[in-house]
Amino acid sequence: MSFSTIILAAGKGTRMKSSLPKVLHAVCGRPMIDYPLIEAKKAGTKEIIVVIGHGAEAVKASLKEEGQLSFIIQEEQLGTGHAVKITENAIKDKDLPIVILCGDAPLIRSSTISRLVSSHIENRNVVTVLTADMDRPAGYGRIIKDGSEIRKIVEEKDATYEEKCISEVNSGVYCVDGRFLFEALKKVGSNNAQGEYYLTDIIAICGDSKLKVSSSRLVDSGEILGINSRKDLAEANRLMRERITDRLMEGGVSILDPDNTYIDSGVEIGSDAIIYPQARLEGSTFIGNGCIIETGTQIKDSKIGDDSHIKPYCVISESVLEGQTTVGPFAHIRPHSHIKRKAKVGNFVEIKKSVIDEGSKVNHLSYIGDSEIGRDVNIGAGTITCNYDGYNKFKTTIEDGAFIGSGSNLVAPVTVGKGAIIGAGSTITKTVAQDSLALTRADQRAVKDWAKKKREKAMEKD
Ligand code: UD1
Ligand code: CA
Repeated sequence: MSFSTIILAAGKGTRMKSSLPKVLHAVCGRPMIDYPLIEAKKAGTKEIIVVIGHGAEAVKASLKEEGQLSFIIQEEQLGTGHAVKITENAIKDKDLPIVILCGDAPLIRSSTISRLVSSHIENRNVVTVLTADMDRPAGYGRIIKDGSEIRKIVEEKDATYEEKCISEVNSGVYCVDGRFLFEALKKVGSNNAQGEYYLTDIIAICGDSKLKVSSSRLVDSGEILGINSRKDLAEANRLMRERITDRLMEGGVSILDPDNTYIDSGVEIGSDAIIYPQARLEGSTFIGNGCIIETGTQIKDSKIGDDSHIKPYCVISESVLEGQTTVGPFAHIRPHSHIKRKAKVGNFVEIKKSVIDEGSKVNHLSYIGDSEIGRDVNIGAGTITCNYDGYNKFKTTIEDGAFIGSGSNLVAPVTVGKGAIIGAGSTITKTVAQDSLALTRADQRAVKDWAKKKREKAMEKD
């Protein structure tokens, strides 16, 4: 069941009111055009031709040309019929059926594409149109039938009142015989309300030539949602999110409030993980088995090992956390950090580009940047690695078993040796030898009864 695919993606998307080409707007963390592309590949397409125009360079850069994928530039967007017409020379094998998809309709499934192609072949159709019944068909082309036979497709702007009342709409997805397609497009004109060359006019041409055209009706009309506005974009995100959370829950993940959990399509989560409301898991994030991800936490392009616990309101990006780590609440783990097994990062702690080795603890209100922290190290509350002198960044090394007293400043570059202790409130600027104590705070002075005298003096004045 071999076929070629054309994806239409040259339009400006005027109604989005955006400087970004419409097909690059994100649906669950991916440019919307990625989805029809991925689904066409899954369904086994031989080649994919993407018609680009508006923002062509940006769209091309986002998709990366490779083996089965090529681009055709439509300089002027004269309509969907024109967009398909200019692919004629790019289609290698015109004896194969051609599937046409829209770059602005990301919810199409590979199974639907496969079904469309097989029904096209089995019924020996020249054109097979994917349709669905919409509660609110406004904006879509309507399917005009004569009995069960499809006669033509009428665009919203060209439709009569009676035609607008028809709820069966054109999905913008078709399977067409290659040879017929380009012959028919030669006959398509632009005499309509929009002055455009409509691809949909090939249906009426079929009827006129007594060639067989059928519609294949979808049950799930959500699958053909075309994105023309920001409102459609929000709806597509909602539908895609639902698919993602459904798939994860089927795989054994507990999602406490799926309607209020935001998980990108590239995210994988292991079984028995629990995801609390308002969590946001983005990019290519991987969450291991049995993890708990609490409310308001945002994790992007990171890997969290099994049985880790991320408490509320943490932000974690481009980092690796091994198994059984505990983070938060309110922790910020910035890119290129590596938190190893059983390590703990507590509340209001910021970690940047640092390694925290097994079993170490950074429990409260600290900043650890450009650092390498060994095993079983204890970093006291309010410790700051002073990694930046206004011009350059420097490294802090804290070796296994060291203890950093609260309120310490470690002025990088600096090394604290194995098992050393830093007294609370110290500012460390030189290497601290293994197993020694380093202390830089001033000695404490005591003035007996000073406070009492001050108080009495103040009261005399009153
Ligand atoms: C189109 C269909 C309509 C269908 C709807 C489904 C036509 C005439 N109408 O309408 O029947 O119900 O899709 O979503 O085909 N494009 C180009 N070059 C162009 C014009 C458009 O590449 O010159 C691309 C757009 O980028 C978009 C797709 O084709 O990805 C559809 O175009 P759009 O203008 O959104 O068509 P609709 O009005 O939605
Ligand atoms: Ca559209």
